[in-house]
Amino acid sequence: MRLMVGQRTVLVTGATGNVGRHVVAQLLDTGARVRALVRDPRIAALPDDVELVRGDLTEPESLRAALDGVGPLFLLWPFLSAEGAAEAVDVLAEHPRRIVYVSAMAVQDDLEPQANGVWGQVEDLIKRSGLEWTFLRASGFATNTLGWADQIRVEGIVRWPYGDAARSLIHERDIAAVAVRALTEDRHTGATYVLTGPEAVTQAEQVRIIGEVVGLPVHWEELAPEVARQQLVAAMGDLAFADSSLEYWARLRTEPEPVTRTVEEVTGTPARTFAEWARDHADDFRRLATAEVAEMYVSSFRTGNLGAAFGLLSPDMVRAAPMEGAGEPAELRGLDAIMENSQRLNADYEIHGVDVDDPLVNQDRFAVRFAFDETHIPTGKRRTTAKVCLYTVADGRVTREEVYYHEAPHLPA
Ligand SMILES: NC(=O)c1ccc[n+]([C@@H]2O[C@H](COP(=O)([O-])OP(=O)(O)OC[C@H]3O[C@@H](n4cnc5c(N)ncnc54)[C@H](OP(=O)(O)O)[C@@H]3O)[C@@H](O)[C@H]2O)c1
Repeated sequence: MRLMVGQRTVLVTGATGNVGRHVVAQLLDTGARVRALVRDPRIAALPDDVELVRGDLTEPESLRAALDGVGPLFLLWPFLSAEGAAEAVDVLAEHPRRIVYVSAMAVQDDLEPQANGVWGQVEDLIKRSGLEWTFLRASGFATNTLGWADQIRVEGIVRWPYGDAARSLIHERDIAAVAVRALTEDRHTGATYVLTGPEAVTQAEQVRIIGEVVGLPVHWEELAPEVARQQLVAAMGDLAFADSSLEYWARLRTEPEPVTRTVEEVTGTPARTFAEWARDHADDFRRLATAEVAEMYVSSFRTGNLGAAFGLLSPDMVRAAPMEGAGEPAELRGLDAIMENSQRLNADYEIHGVDVDDPLVNQDRFAVRFAFDETHIPTGKRRTTAKVCLYTVADGRVTREEVYYHEAPHLPA
């Protein structure tokens, strides 16, 4: 029996993420009233009928504003440690009746919470909170393979260790589908669901499937585990996490990840295959056309998602901006040099806002006009600085930027 849909508000944390976006969409389909906890409502880009409330899971007091009138709560704890989780769960447990938490298949019931990673510890806090709970212990998310997208787009090769490690990766829509059932039906209280995809697929095979879907030959190239370890530590900043992940993947060469039928048992529909996931995400792996790069670049700037904008730049991009010179070379080579230059130029400015015009596209190039509303801090002078940037695109990435100013920017003293 479905309950409370249309009566109590469902609060969704992580609503802008892989799983949360689908939880929101699928809840709306049931007619539920949905509130999303987001850190920045301006860039949440969620459907209009979702109520956005600003809050941060690391600032428990900020969560209270989101809780009024809430029935069920969808929780993910998007951190590698459980530090601060007790305080957050304490506040979150004040209003809702029911909590559905995205945990991980790694949790083992015969271990103490401390030995079960962040997920076991958060599960334990929830159990002790007095709320009705459902735990979704998910296998690896298929979205993890988006980490290969750059290599696939640019070189058609994925370099990673343990190509024969077999994983039962799950589609984020399936986790969301189970979550929505657990949020809106009574019968899941106290259930711990182990959720996986419908089959275990080796990593090398996943890469082949992505290539097939995208229409590009994509090859697997075995990477030494030690090199992958360094990359993981650089990306996650956590040595223990890198080591335990590598150890786990090594084991999957001989012991494939288990496969459960829980998605089908709960939702009535079989879990989606990895090939279905790859088809849903083909655009994420495809080499982008110039017009697509231009649109994504401009919209990333407009929504303040600079990380996404910088992700479209080639690491060895060249920037030609003679008026920024001040004795520096007029051409800078490589993203590191370009970022350093940008920090140097902006150090003396307070930027109040930026207007970004629609891109003008011609074959492999596009131009964008930016107008910065900014104050030059040393002189206190506020002005609008306009510039036009002409970008060249190759293989779906920006490889060159030429900058044209109306008036030279103030250069640091
Ligand atoms: N990847 C896997 O293989 C795997 C397997 C099992 C379990 N899990 C668990 O699944 C979760 C990740 O899910 P996902 O991939 O859907 O997430 P995601 O795409 O990485 O997105 C993270 C979400 O968390 C929100 N968030 C980040 N910091 C926050 C903060 N300080 N306060 C409030 N919200 C914050 C972000 O919202 P804003 O940035 O918009 O605020 C975003 O919506 C993690 O808890 C992970 O442990 C992952």
